[in-house]
Amino acid sequence: MINEIKEKIKQCVENKYQVKVVVEEPKDLKMGDLAVPVFPIVKVLRKPLNEVALEVAKTIKENVSEVKDTKVIGGFVNLVLSKEEMAYDIIKSILTEGSNYASKPSNDEVVCLDYSSPNIAKSFSIGHLRSTIIGNSLKLIYQKLGYKTVSINYLGDWGTQFGKMIVAYLKWGDKEKIKQDPINEMTNLYVKFHEEAKKDESLNEEARQAFRKCELGDKEYLELWRYIREESLKESAQIYDLLGVTFDSYNGEAFYNDKMDGVVEELEAKHLVTLDDNALIVRFADGMPPALIKRSDGGSLYMTRDLAALLYRKKEYNFKEILYVVGNEQKLHFEQIKAIIKMLGYDFSDEIKHVGFGLYLTNGKKMSTRSGGVVKLYDVLMKAISLAKAEVLEKNKDLTNKDEVAKKIGLASVIYNDLKNHRELDIEFDLDSCVKFEGNTGPYILYSGVRIASILKDKEIDLNNIDLDLFNKDIYYDVVRQLANFSVMLNKAKEEYAPSYIAKYLYTLATTFNRFYALEKINCEDELIRNTNFALIKAIRIVLNEGLRLLGIAYVDEM
Ligand code: ARG
Repeated sequence: MINEIKEKIKQCVENKYQVKVVVEEPKDLKMGDLAVPVFPIVKVLRKPLNEVALEVAKTIKENVSEVKDTKVIGGFVNLVLSKEEMAYDIIKSILTEGSNYASKPSNDEVVCLDYSSPNIAKSFSIGHLRSTIIGNSLKLIYQKLGYKTVSINYLGDWGTQFGKMIVAYLKWGDKEKIKQDPINEMTNLYVKFHEEAKKDESLNEEARQAFRKCELGDKEYLELWRYIREESLKESAQIYDLLGVTFDSYNGEAFYNDKMDGVVEELEAKHLVTLDDNALIVRFADGMPPALIKRSDGGSLYMTRDLAALLYRKKEYNFKEILYVVGNEQKLHFEQIKAIIKMLGYDFSDEIKHVGFGLYLTNGKKMSTRSGGVVKLYDVLMKAISLAKAEVLEKNKDLTNKDEVAKKIGLASVIYNDLKNHRELDIEFDLDSCVKFEGNTGPYILYSGVRIASILKDKEIDLNNIDLDLFNKDIYYDVVRQLANFSVMLNKAKEEYAPSYIAKYLYTLATTFNRFYALEKINCEDELIRNTNFALIKAIRIVLNEGLRLLGIAYVDEM
Protein backbone atom coordinates (compact mmCIF):
# COMPACT_ATOMS: atom_id res chain seq x y z
CA MET A 1 0.00 0.00 0.00
CA ILE A 2 2.70 2.43 1.01
CA ASN A 3 4.40 1.17 -2.11
CA GLU A 4 1.41 2.12 -4.19
CA ILE A 5 1.41 5.60 -2.74
CA LYS A 6 5.13 5.88 -3.40
CA GLU A 7 4.49 4.88 -6.98
CA LYS A 8 1.71 7.47 -7.34
CA ILE A 9 3.99 10.20 -6.05
CA LYS A 10 6.80 9.13 -8.33
CA GLN A 11 4.49 9.08 -11.36
CA CYS A 12 3.02 12.45 -10.54
CA VAL A 13 6.41 14.15 -10.19
CA GLU A 14 7.97 12.41 -13.16
CA ASN A 15 5.06 13.23 -15.44
CA LYS A 16 5.18 16.85 -14.55
CA TYR A 17 8.94 17.39 -14.75
CA GLN A 18 10.06 14.58 -17.05
CA VAL A 19 12.86 13.72 -14.61
CA LYS A 20 13.43 10.45 -12.76
CA VAL A 21 13.04 10.80 -9.00
CA VAL A 22 13.14 8.45 -6.03
CA VAL A 23 10.66 8.39 -3.19
CA GLU A 24 12.38 7.52 0.08
CA GLU A 25 11.20 6.42 3.48
CA PRO A 26 13.09 8.57 5.99
CA LYS A 27 14.59 6.67 8.92
CA ASP A 28 13.30 9.24 11.35
CA LEU A 29 9.51 9.32 11.11
CA LYS A 30 9.48 12.83 12.59
CA MET A 31 10.71 13.90 9.17
CA GLY A 32 7.46 12.64 7.67
CA ASP A 33 6.36 9.31 6.20
CA LEU A 34 8.02 9.79 2.82
CA ALA A 35 10.55 12.13 1.26
CA VAL A 36 11.44 13.21 -2.28
CA PRO A 37 14.90 14.68 -2.97
CA VAL A 38 14.48 17.52 -5.46
CA PHE A 39 18.07 17.95 -6.73
CA PRO A 40 17.43 16.16 -10.05
CA ILE A 41 14.57 18.56 -10.77
CA VAL A 42 16.61 21.61 -9.81
CA LYS A 43 19.18 20.59 -12.40
CA VAL A 44 16.60 20.56 -15.16
CA LEU A 45 14.51 23.58 -14.19
CA ARG A 46 17.52 25.78 -13.37
CA LYS A 47 15.63 27.60 -10.64
CA PRO A 48 16.58 28.12 -6.97
CA LEU A 49 16.35 25.03 -4.81
CA ASN A 50 13.77 26.39 -2.42
CA GLU A 51 11.49 27.60 -5.16
CA VAL A 52 11.60 24.19 -6.85
CA ALA A 53 10.98 22.36 -3.62
CA LEU A 54 7.91 24.42 -2.83
CA GLU A 55 6.56 23.87 -6.30
CA VAL A 56 7.10 20.11 -6.11
CA ALA A 57 5.43 20.02 -2.70
CA LYS A 58 2.41 21.81 -4.12
CA THR A 59 2.20 19.48 -7.12
CA ILE A 60 2.25 16.40 -4.94
CA LYS A 61 -0.29 17.71 -2.49
CA GLU A 62 -2.70 18.60 -5.25
CA ASN A 63 -2.42 15.29 -7.05
CA VAL A 64 -1.96 12.60 -4.45
CA SER A 65 -4.89 12.49 -2.11
CA GLU A 66 -3.12 10.33 0.47
CA VAL A 67 -0.62 13.13 1.15
CA LYS A 68 -1.95 15.24 3.95
CA ASP A 69 0.89 17.63 4.55
CA THR A 70 4.24 18.63 3.07
CA LYS A 71 7.34 20.19 4.61
CA VAL A 72 10.31 21.48 2.68
CA ILE A 73 13.57 20.78 4.49
CA GLY A 74 16.80 21.48 2.60
CA GLY A 75 16.72 19.71 -0.72
CA PHE A 76 13.88 17.42 0.33
CA VAL A 77 10.14 17.55 0.21
CA ASN A 78 8.93 15.62 3.23
CA LEU A 79 5.46 14.19 3.08
CA VAL A 80 3.04 13.34 5.82
CA LEU A 81 0.45 10.82 4.75
CA SER A 82 -3.15 10.93 5.69
CA LYS A 83 -4.04 8.03 7.92
CA GLU A 84 -7.65 8.41 6.88
CA GLU A 85 -6.85 8.07 3.19
CA MET A 86 -4.52 5.15 3.76
CA ALA A 87 -7.13 3.39 5.82
CA TYR A 88 -9.87 3.97 3.31
CA ASP A 89 -7.74 2.87 0.37
CA ILE A 90 -6.68 -0.34 1.96
CA ILE A 91 -10.04 -1.35 3.41
CA LYS A 92 -11.76 -0.62 0.15
CA SER A 93 -9.23 -2.60 -1.89
CA ILE A 94 -9.41 -5.61 0.40
CA LEU A 95 -13.19 -5.66 0.62
CA THR A 96 -13.70 -5.25 -3.10
CA GLU A 97 -10.90 -7.54 -4.26
CA GLY A 98 -11.46 -10.24 -1.66
CA SER A 99 -9.05 -13.13 -1.89
CA ASN A 100 -7.51 -11.54 -4.98
CA TYR A 101 -6.18 -8.74 -2.86
CA ALA A 102 -2.39 -8.38 -3.31
CA SER A 103 -2.40 -10.79 -6.27
CA LYS A 104 -0.24 -9.81 -9.22
CA PRO A 105 -1.43 -10.09 -12.83
CA SER A 106 -0.11 -13.20 -14.53
CA ASN A 107 3.22 -13.01 -16.26
CA ASP A 108 4.75 -15.55 -18.59
CA GLU A 109 7.61 -16.67 -16.40
CA VAL A 110 7.68 -20.35 -15.54
CA VAL A 111 8.98 -21.59 -12.22
CA CYS A 112 9.58 -25.30 -11.71
CA LEU A 113 9.30 -26.60 -8.17
CA ASP A 114 10.76 -29.99 -7.33
CA TYR A 115 9.37 -31.05 -3.96
CA SER A 116 8.11 -33.92 -1.82
CA SER A 117 9.94 -36.54 -3.93
CA PRO A 118 9.75 -39.52 -1.56
CA ASN A 119 11.60 -42.73 -2.18
CA ILE A 120 9.49 -45.61 -3.35
CA ALA A 121 9.34 -48.73 -1.18
CA LYS A 122 10.56 -46.72 1.78
CA SER A 123 8.48 -44.88 4.30
CA PHE A 124 7.58 -41.27 3.64
CA SER A 125 10.06 -39.47 5.91
CA ILE A 126 9.77 -36.29 7.90
CA GLY A 127 12.11 -34.65 5.42
CA HIS A 128 9.64 -35.46 2.67
CA LEU A 129 6.83 -33.99 4.73
CA ARG A 130 8.79 -30.75 5.19
CA SER A 131 9.56 -30.64 1.51
CA THR A 132 5.88 -31.20 0.69
CA ILE A 133 4.67 -28.45 3.02
CA ILE A 134 7.29 -25.86 2.04
CA GLY A 135 7.13 -26.68 -1.68
CA ASN A 136 3.35 -26.50 -1.78
CA SER A 137 3.34 -23.13 -0.06
CA LEU A 138 6.01 -21.73 -2.39
CA LYS A 139 3.98 -22.87 -5.34
CA LEU A 140 0.90 -21.01 -4.06
CA ILE A 141 2.97 -17.89 -3.33
CA TYR A 142 4.47 -17.87 -6.81
CA GLN A 143 1.04 -18.32 -8.36
CA LYS A 144 -0.31 -15.43 -6.32
CA LEU A 145 2.50 -13.29 -7.67
CA GLY A 146 1.53 -14.16 -11.23
CA TYR A 147 4.05 -16.85 -12.12
CA LYS A 148 3.25 -20.04 -13.97
CA THR A 149 4.30 -22.97 -11.85
CA VAL A 150 5.17 -26.55 -12.66
CA SER A 151 5.12 -28.72 -9.56
CA ILE A 152 7.14 -31.87 -9.88
CA ASN A 153 7.16 -34.86 -7.58
CA TYR A 154 10.52 -36.32 -8.48
CA LEU A 155 9.94 -39.77 -7.06
CA GLY A 156 12.94 -41.80 -5.96
CA ASP A 157 11.71 -44.71 -8.03
CA TRP A 158 14.98 -45.92 -9.52
CA GLY A 159 18.29 -47.22 -8.21
CA THR A 160 19.92 -50.36 -6.86
CA GLN A 161 17.54 -50.56 -3.92
CA PHE A 162 14.93 -51.63 -6.45
CA GLY A 163 17.01 -54.65 -7.33
CA LYS A 164 16.99 -55.58 -3.65
CA MET A 165 13.25 -55.07 -3.42
CA ILE A 166 12.59 -57.22 -6.44
CA VAL A 167 14.82 -60.04 -5.24
CA ALA A 168 13.25 -59.92 -1.79
CA TYR A 169 9.78 -59.88 -3.28
CA LEU A 170 10.48 -62.83 -5.55
CA LYS A 171 11.93 -64.85 -2.68
CA TRP A 172 9.69 -63.99 0.26
CA GLY A 173 6.99 -61.62 -0.95
CA ASP A 174 3.28 -62.06 -0.34
CA LYS A 175 0.95 -60.10 -2.62
CA GLU A 176 -1.92 -60.16 -0.13
CA LYS A 177 0.19 -58.73 2.69
CA ILE A 178 1.55 -56.04 0.41
CA LYS A 179 -1.90 -55.07 -0.66
CA GLN A 180 -3.01 -54.65 2.94
CA ASP A 181 -0.11 -52.57 4.15
CA PRO A 182 2.27 -51.89 1.30
CA ILE A 183 4.98 -49.82 2.94
CA ASN A 184 5.10 -51.86 6.09
CA GLU A 185 5.39 -55.08 4.16
CA MET A 186 8.01 -53.66 1.84
CA THR A 187 10.00 -52.37 4.78
CA ASN A 188 9.88 -55.89 6.22
CA LEU A 189 11.09 -57.32 2.94
CA TYR A 190 13.85 -54.76 2.75
CA VAL A 191 15.01 -55.53 6.28
CA LYS A 192 14.88 -59.23 5.59
CA PHE A 193 16.96 -58.75 2.47
CA HIS A 194 19.71 -57.03 4.46
CA GLU A 195 19.67 -59.69 7.16
CA GLU A 196 19.93 -62.50 4.62
CA ALA A 197 22.57 -60.67 2.60
CA LYS A 198 24.78 -60.55 5.68
CA LYS A 199 24.77 -64.32 5.67
CA ASP A 200 24.83 -64.76 1.91
CA GLU A 201 26.92 -62.24 -0.04
CA SER A 202 25.62 -63.47 -3.39
CA LEU A 203 22.24 -61.83 -2.75
CA ASN A 204 23.78 -58.43 -3.36
CA GLU A 205 25.02 -59.55 -6.74
CA GLU A 206 21.59 -60.96 -7.50
CA ALA A 207 20.05 -57.59 -6.62
CA ARG A 208 22.46 -55.74 -8.89
CA GLN A 209 21.54 -58.07 -11.72
CA ALA A 210 17.86 -57.56 -11.05
CA PHE A 211 18.16 -53.79 -11.23
CA ARG A 212 20.37 -54.10 -14.28
CA LYS A 213 17.52 -55.98 -15.94
CA CYS A 214 15.20 -53.09 -15.19
CA GLU A 215 17.70 -50.65 -16.65
CA LEU A 216 17.94 -52.71 -19.78
CA GLY A 217 14.18 -52.76 -20.11
CA ASP A 218 13.41 -56.38 -19.22
CA LYS A 219 9.61 -56.66 -19.46
CA GLU A 220 9.04 -58.97 -16.54
CA TYR A 221 11.29 -57.04 -14.19
CA LEU A 222 9.83 -53.72 -15.24
CA GLU A 223 6.41 -55.13 -14.47
CA LEU A 224 7.60 -55.96 -10.94
CA TRP A 225 9.11 -52.52 -10.63
CA ARG A 226 5.84 -50.91 -11.71
CA TYR A 227 3.89 -52.98 -9.22
CA ILE A 228 6.15 -52.02 -6.31
CA ARG A 229 6.01 -48.37 -7.36
CA GLU A 230 2.22 -48.29 -7.58
CA GLU A 231 1.69 -50.02 -4.27
CA SER A 232 4.05 -47.82 -2.37
CA LEU A 233 2.75 -44.64 -3.93
CA LYS A 234 -0.50 -45.36 -2.15
CA GLU A 235 0.96 -44.24 1.16
CA SER A 236 2.15 -40.93 -0.27
CA ALA A 237 -1.20 -40.44 -1.97
CA GLN A 238 -2.98 -40.68 1.39
CA ILE A 239 -0.78 -37.92 2.75
CA TYR A 240 -1.27 -35.71 -0.31
CA ASP A 241 -5.02 -36.17 -0.08
CA LEU A 242 -5.06 -35.11 3.54
CA LEU A 243 -2.92 -32.05 2.87
CA GLY A 244 -4.65 -31.17 -0.38
CA VAL A 245 -1.34 -31.18 -2.24
CA THR A 246 -1.23 -31.85 -5.98
CA PHE A 247 1.47 -32.13 -8.63
CA ASP A 248 1.68 -31.39 -12.31
CA SER A 249 4.19 -34.16 -12.87
CA TYR A 250 5.15 -37.41 -11.21
CA ASN A 251 8.14 -37.97 -13.46
CA GLY A 252 10.57 -39.56 -11.06
CA GLU A 253 14.10 -40.79 -11.44
CA ALA A 254 13.05 -43.79 -13.55
CA PHE A 255 11.67 -41.47 -16.21
CA TYR A 256 15.23 -40.43 -16.96
CA ASN A 257 16.63 -43.94 -17.39
CA ASP A 258 16.88 -43.51 -21.14
CA LYS A 259 18.02 -39.90 -20.95
CA MET A 260 21.21 -40.39 -18.97
CA ASP A 261 23.48 -41.64 -21.71
CA GLY A 262 23.01 -38.30 -23.42
CA VAL A 263 24.30 -36.47 -20.36
CA VAL A 264 27.29 -38.77 -19.98
CA GLU A 265 28.11 -38.32 -23.66
CA GLU A 266 27.84 -34.57 -23.38
CA LEU A 267 30.16 -34.57 -20.36
CA GLU A 268 32.61 -36.76 -22.24
CA ALA A 269 32.50 -34.66 -25.38
CA LYS A 270 33.32 -31.57 -23.35
CA HIS A 271 36.13 -33.45 -21.55
CA LEU A 272 34.64 -32.92 -18.14
CA VAL A 273 34.80 -36.49 -16.86
CA THR A 274 37.77 -38.54 -15.77
CA LEU A 275 38.12 -42.21 -15.05
CA ASP A 276 38.80 -42.96 -11.42
CA ASP A 277 39.03 -46.58 -10.34
CA ASN A 278 36.85 -47.49 -13.29
CA ALA A 279 34.20 -44.99 -12.25
CA LEU A 280 33.42 -41.77 -14.10
CA ILE A 281 33.76 -38.62 -12.06
CA VAL A 282 33.69 -34.86 -12.57
CA ARG A 283 36.41 -32.93 -10.76
CA PHE A 284 35.99 -29.32 -9.76
CA ALA A 285 38.63 -26.61 -9.75
CA ASP A 286 37.68 -24.98 -6.46
CA GLY A 287 38.25 -27.86 -4.07
CA MET A 288 34.67 -29.10 -4.07
CA PRO A 289 34.63 -32.91 -3.74
CA PRO A 290 34.25 -34.65 -7.11
CA ALA A 291 30.86 -35.82 -8.35
CA LEU A 292 30.30 -39.45 -9.26
CA ILE A 293 28.61 -39.82 -12.65
CA LYS A 294 28.85 -43.53 -13.39
CA ARG A 295 29.80 -46.34 -11.07
CA SER A 296 32.55 -48.80 -11.84
CA ASP A 297 29.94 -51.51 -12.53
CA GLY A 298 28.26 -49.23 -15.06
CA GLY A 299 25.34 -48.43 -12.74
CA SER A 300 23.90 -44.95 -13.01
CA LEU A 301 23.61 -42.53 -10.17
CA TYR A 302 21.41 -40.00 -8.41
CA MET A 303 23.64 -37.22 -9.75
CA THR A 304 23.41 -38.35 -13.36
CA ARG A 305 19.65 -38.69 -13.19
CA ASP A 306 19.32 -35.23 -11.66
CA LEU A 307 21.42 -33.74 -14.46
CA ALA A 308 19.34 -35.50 -17.10
CA ALA A 309 16.16 -34.30 -15.38
CA LEU A 310 17.39 -30.73 -15.20
CA LEU A 311 18.30 -30.54 -18.89
CA TYR A 312 15.01 -32.16 -19.82
CA ARG A 313 13.03 -29.70 -17.71
CA LYS A 314 14.86 -26.72 -19.16
CA LYS A 315 13.89 -27.87 -22.65
CA GLU A 316 10.39 -28.92 -21.75
CA TYR A 317 9.33 -25.96 -19.59
CA ASN A 318 11.89 -23.26 -20.37
CA PHE A 319 11.78 -22.22 -16.72
CA LYS A 320 13.01 -18.88 -15.46
CA GLU A 321 13.84 -20.48 -12.15
CA ILE A 322 13.89 -24.00 -10.73
CA LEU A 323 13.54 -24.62 -7.02
CA TYR A 324 14.69 -27.83 -5.37
CA VAL A 325 13.00 -28.10 -2.02
CA VAL A 326 15.34 -30.64 -0.45
CA GLY A 327 16.94 -30.96 3.00
CA ASN A 328 20.13 -29.07 3.88
CA GLU A 329 22.08 -32.33 3.89
CA GLN A 330 21.99 -32.31 0.07
CA LYS A 331 23.59 -28.87 -0.21
CA LEU A 332 26.75 -30.21 -1.81
CA HIS A 333 24.78 -32.24 -4.35
CA PHE A 334 23.06 -29.12 -5.68
CA GLU A 335 26.25 -27.06 -5.63
CA GLN A 336 27.81 -29.75 -7.78
CA ILE A 337 24.85 -29.68 -10.16
CA LYS A 338 25.12 -25.90 -10.57
CA ALA A 339 28.83 -26.15 -11.18
CA ILE A 340 28.46 -28.92 -13.76
CA ILE A 341 25.77 -27.00 -15.66
CA LYS A 342 28.11 -24.04 -15.82
CA MET A 343 31.03 -26.21 -16.92
CA LEU A 344 28.85 -27.65 -19.66
CA GLY A 345 28.53 -24.12 -20.99
CA TYR A 346 24.87 -23.48 -20.16
CA ASP A 347 23.87 -20.02 -19.04
CA PHE A 348 21.19 -20.95 -16.52
CA SER A 349 23.15 -22.10 -13.52
CA ASP A 350 22.02 -19.04 -11.57
CA GLU A 351 18.41 -20.03 -12.12
CA ILE A 352 18.96 -23.23 -10.13
CA LYS A 353 18.07 -22.77 -6.50
CA HIS A 354 18.45 -25.27 -3.72
CA VAL A 355 15.77 -24.39 -1.19
CA GLY A 356 17.21 -26.26 1.77
CA PHE A 357 15.63 -26.90 5.14
CA GLY A 358 16.52 -28.15 8.60
CA LEU A 359 15.49 -31.16 10.66
CA TYR A 360 12.68 -31.97 13.02
CA LEU A 361 13.94 -32.50 16.54
CA THR A 362 12.40 -34.22 19.52
CA ASN A 363 13.97 -33.06 22.76
CA GLY A 364 16.84 -31.58 20.81
CA LYS A 365 17.67 -34.76 18.92
CA LYS A 366 16.99 -35.58 15.30
CA MET A 367 13.54 -37.07 14.99
CA SER A 368 13.43 -40.07 12.77
CA THR A 369 10.75 -42.20 11.25
CA ARG A 370 13.20 -45.01 10.80
CA SER A 371 15.10 -45.79 13.98
CA GLY A 372 13.25 -47.83 16.55
CA GLY A 373 9.61 -48.51 15.89
CA VAL A 374 8.58 -47.09 12.55
CA VAL A 375 6.52 -43.93 13.02
CA LYS A 376 4.33 -43.47 10.00
CA LEU A 377 3.76 -39.89 9.03
CA TYR A 378 0.22 -40.59 8.05
CA ASP A 379 -0.33 -41.77 11.62
CA VAL A 380 1.31 -38.62 12.96
CA LEU A 381 -1.13 -36.49 10.96
CA MET A 382 -4.06 -38.60 12.13
CA LYS A 383 -2.87 -38.20 15.71
CA ALA A 384 -2.82 -34.41 15.24
CA ILE A 385 -6.39 -34.61 13.99
CA SER A 386 -7.53 -36.65 16.96
CA LEU A 387 -5.83 -34.28 19.42
CA ALA A 388 -7.57 -31.40 17.66
CA LYS A 389 -10.86 -33.22 18.00
CA ALA A 390 -10.36 -33.55 21.74
CA GLU A 391 -9.71 -29.79 21.99
CA VAL A 392 -12.77 -29.03 19.91
CA LEU A 393 -14.99 -31.28 22.02
CA GLU A 394 -13.77 -29.56 25.14
CA LYS A 395 -14.37 -26.06 23.80
CA ASN A 396 -17.51 -26.41 21.73
CA LYS A 397 -19.59 -29.51 22.30
CA ASP A 398 -22.38 -28.34 20.05
CA LEU A 399 -20.37 -27.95 16.92
CA THR A 400 -22.14 -29.72 14.06
CA ASN A 401 -19.35 -30.80 11.74
CA LYS A 402 -16.79 -31.76 14.36
CA ASP A 403 -14.82 -34.19 12.26
CA GLU A 404 -14.38 -31.84 9.36
CA VAL A 405 -13.30 -29.01 11.66
CA ALA A 406 -10.96 -31.25 13.68
CA LYS A 407 -9.32 -32.40 10.49
CA LYS A 408 -8.65 -28.85 9.40
CA ILE A 409 -7.36 -27.81 12.81
CA GLY A 410 -5.13 -30.86 13.15
CA LEU A 411 -3.53 -30.30 9.77
CA ALA A 412 -3.23 -26.56 10.38
CA SER A 413 -1.34 -27.36 13.59
CA VAL A 414 1.30 -29.43 11.85
CA ILE A 415 1.65 -27.20 8.80
CA TYR A 416 1.82 -23.97 10.76
CA ASN A 417 4.30 -25.41 13.26
CA ASP A 418 6.56 -26.12 10.33
CA LEU A 419 6.13 -22.90 8.40
CA LYS A 420 6.36 -20.49 11.31
CA ASN A 421 10.09 -21.21 11.42
CA HIS A 422 12.46 -20.07 8.72
CA ARG A 423 13.01 -23.18 6.62
CA GLU A 424 16.75 -23.26 7.29
CA LEU A 425 16.18 -23.83 11.00
CA ASP A 426 15.70 -27.09 12.85
CA ILE A 427 12.26 -27.42 14.39
CA GLU A 428 11.27 -28.86 17.72
CA PHE A 429 8.32 -31.12 17.03
CA ASP A 430 5.84 -31.60 19.82
CA LEU A 431 2.38 -32.48 18.65
CA ASP A 432 0.65 -31.53 21.90
CA SER A 433 1.92 -27.98 21.89
CA CYS A 434 1.24 -27.28 18.23
CA VAL A 435 -2.42 -28.27 18.60
CA LYS A 436 -2.95 -25.78 21.45
CA PHE A 437 -5.44 -22.98 20.83
CA GLU A 438 -3.23 -20.43 22.60
CA GLY A 439 0.24 -19.20 21.71
CA ASN A 440 1.92 -19.01 18.33
CA THR A 441 0.00 -21.91 16.80
CA GLY A 442 -2.10 -22.66 13.75
CA PRO A 443 -5.25 -23.12 15.82
CA TYR A 444 -4.73 -19.70 17.45
CA ILE A 445 -4.77 -18.07 14.04
CA LEU A 446 -7.79 -20.09 12.92
CA TYR A 447 -9.52 -19.15 16.14
CA SER A 448 -8.94 -15.43 15.58
CA GLY A 449 -10.61 -15.77 12.19
CA VAL A 450 -13.52 -17.66 13.70
CA ARG A 451 -14.02 -14.88 16.22
CA ILE A 452 -14.32 -12.40 13.37
CA ALA A 453 -16.65 -14.68 11.46
CA SER A 454 -18.96 -14.97 14.42
CA ILE A 455 -19.07 -11.21 14.98
CA LEU A 456 -19.81 -10.62 11.31
CA LYS A 457 -22.41 -13.34 10.93
CA ASP A 458 -25.35 -11.97 8.92
CA LYS A 459 -24.02 -8.42 9.13
CA GLU A 460 -24.07 -6.01 6.21
CA ILE A 461 -21.16 -3.67 5.66
CA ASP A 462 -21.49 -0.33 3.92
CA LEU A 463 -18.25 0.91 2.46
CA ASN A 464 -19.70 4.38 2.01
CA ASN A 465 -20.36 4.74 5.65
CA ILE A 466 -16.97 4.70 7.28
CA ASP A 467 -15.74 7.01 10.00
CA LEU A 468 -12.25 7.80 8.80
CA ASP A 469 -11.45 9.93 11.84
CA LEU A 470 -11.17 6.74 13.86
CA PHE A 471 -7.96 5.89 12.06
CA ASN A 472 -6.12 8.63 13.87
CA LYS A 473 -6.43 6.37 16.92
CA ASP A 474 -3.35 4.22 17.42
CA ILE A 475 -5.02 0.83 17.55
CA TYR A 476 -7.04 1.46 14.40
CA TYR A 477 -4.00 2.69 12.56
CA ASP A 478 -1.96 -0.29 13.80
CA VAL A 479 -4.43 -2.61 12.16
CA VAL A 480 -4.25 -0.67 8.90
CA ARG A 481 -0.46 -0.75 8.93
CA GLN A 482 -0.53 -4.49 9.52
CA LEU A 483 -2.92 -4.99 6.63
CA ALA A 484 -0.64 -2.94 4.40
CA ASN A 485 2.25 -5.19 5.33
CA PHE A 486 0.71 -8.23 3.65
CA SER A 487 2.07 -7.60 0.18
CA VAL A 488 5.46 -6.62 1.60
CA MET A 489 5.69 -9.98 3.38
CA LEU A 490 4.46 -11.82 0.32
CA ASN A 491 7.39 -10.46 -1.64
CA LYS A 492 9.81 -11.21 1.13
CA ALA A 493 8.58 -14.79 1.28
CA LYS A 494 9.24 -15.14 -2.41
CA GLU A 495 12.62 -13.43 -2.31
CA GLU A 496 13.89 -15.77 0.39
CA TYR A 497 11.85 -18.79 -0.64
CA ALA A 498 10.56 -18.68 2.92
CA PRO A 499 6.83 -19.02 3.65
CA SER A 500 7.73 -18.29 7.29
CA TYR A 501 7.38 -14.58 6.50
CA ILE A 502 3.71 -15.13 5.80
CA ALA A 503 3.24 -17.38 8.81
CA LYS A 504 4.84 -14.83 11.16
CA TYR A 505 2.85 -12.07 9.53
CA LEU A 506 -0.42 -13.91 10.17
CA TYR A 507 0.48 -14.34 13.81
CA THR A 508 1.12 -10.60 14.17
CA LEU A 509 -2.10 -9.79 12.33
CA ALA A 510 -4.05 -12.17 14.58
CA THR A 511 -2.57 -10.70 17.75
CA THR A 512 -3.24 -7.17 16.48
CA PHE A 513 -6.85 -8.15 15.90
CA ASN A 514 -7.10 -9.61 19.38
CA ARG A 515 -5.69 -6.40 20.83
CA PHE A 516 -8.27 -4.43 18.85
CA TYR A 517 -10.97 -6.76 20.15
CA ALA A 518 -9.80 -6.21 23.73
CA LEU A 519 -9.58 -2.42 23.43
CA GLU A 520 -12.66 -1.55 21.39
CA LYS A 521 -16.26 -2.58 21.59
CA ILE A 522 -16.63 -3.79 18.04
CA ASN A 523 -20.37 -4.36 17.95
CA CYS A 524 -21.12 -0.97 19.51
CA GLU A 525 -24.22 1.22 19.60
CA ASP A 526 -22.98 3.94 17.24
CA GLU A 527 -23.90 2.85 13.76
CA LEU A 528 -21.07 4.63 11.99
CA ILE A 529 -18.39 3.31 14.34
CA ARG A 530 -19.91 -0.15 14.27
CA ASN A 531 -19.89 -0.24 10.48
CA THR A 532 -16.29 0.97 10.43
CA ASN A 533 -15.28 -1.72 12.90
CA PHE A 534 -17.03 -4.37 10.85
CA ALA A 535 -15.32 -3.24 7.65
CA LEU A 536 -11.96 -3.29 9.37
CA ILE A 537 -12.30 -6.76 10.86
CA LYS A 538 -13.75 -8.10 7.65
CA ALA A 539 -10.58 -6.91 5.92
CA ILE A 540 -8.55 -8.73 8.58
CA ARG A 541 -10.51 -11.91 8.03
CA ILE A 542 -9.98 -11.77 4.26
CA VAL A 543 -6.24 -11.31 4.63
CA LEU A 544 -6.00 -14.00 7.32
CA ASN A 545 -7.81 -16.51 5.15
CA GLU A 546 -5.80 -15.69 2.09
CA GLY A 547 -2.56 -15.88 4.05
CA LEU A 548 -3.55 -19.26 5.45
CA ARG A 549 -4.39 -20.49 1.98
CA LEU A 550 -0.90 -19.53 0.84
CA LEU A 551 0.52 -21.72 3.59
CA GLY A 552 -1.65 -24.63 2.48
CA ILE A 553 -4.02 -24.29 5.43
CA ALA A 554 -7.81 -24.33 5.09
CA TYR A 555 -9.72 -21.84 7.23
CA VAL A 556 -12.73 -22.73 9.36
CA ASP A 557 -15.89 -20.77 10.13
CA GLU A 558 -16.55 -22.32 13.50
CA MET A 559 -14.52 -24.21 16.03
N1 ARG B 1 14.26 -38.69 -3.35
C1 ARG B 1 15.27 -37.83 -2.82
C2 ARG B 1 15.49 -38.14 -1.36
O1 ARG B 1 14.61 -38.59 -0.69
C3 ARG B 1 14.92 -36.39 -2.95
C4 ARG B 1 14.90 -35.88 -4.35
C5 ARG B 1 15.01 -34.41 -4.40
N2 ARG B 1 14.97 -33.89 -5.72
C6 ARG B 1 15.98 -33.96 -6.60
N3 ARG B 1 15.80 -33.49 -7.80
N4 ARG B 1 17.14 -34.49 -6.28
O2 ARG B 1 16.57 -37.90 -0.84
